[in-house]
Amino acid sequence: MAEDLQIIVGNKADQYQSLIPQIKGLLEGEPDLIANLANVVAALKEQFGWFWVGFYLVKPSVADSSSELVLAPFQGPVACTRIKKGRGVCGSSWAEAKTIVVPDVEKFPGHIACSSLSKSEIVVPVIRNNEVVAVLDVDSDEYDQFDSTDQKYLEEIVNLIAF
Ligand code: SME
Repeated sequence: MAEDLQIIVGNKADQYQSLIPQIKGLLEGEPDLIANLANVVAALKEQFGWFWVGFYLVKPSVADSSSELVLAPFQGPVACTRIKKGRGVCGSSWAEAKTIVVPDVEKFPGHIACSSLSKSEIVVPVIRNNEVVAVLDVDSDEYDQFDSTDQKYLEEIVNLIAF
């Protein structure tokens, strides 16, 4: 059974290093993907207090035979439900299969504004068998909140999840 998350004060790396073993504990022995995604976003939101943190899963499109990103467990305000490949930061991270850090969302061509309060963003693709199966999207209501430390640890965290 899960216990209370231990929240620490400290620099970003310290916060991730405290959180990662706890996330491993939450995931251990639980095969259900939605339950695991839900606990990972809850743990991230609790430690960092970001404006929005959530997953989008690559799923069949309702409109045609292609795939699209569909909203999955998240914490924060209501958000766009479906994103096409190559669209916005999330769709670009999927298309390029790489993490994208956006210091100022207004300067990212094609950024999809689910909320006007979002100012900076990082999107991390989840890659399994050389294919992107999901993305983790984190938004801040302040500019320039994400860097290579977030990239390193968030990539490590998504790799802990069995898809
Ligand atoms: N801003 C994202 C859309 C998702 S929301 O921020 C939750 C994008 O441009 O892909």
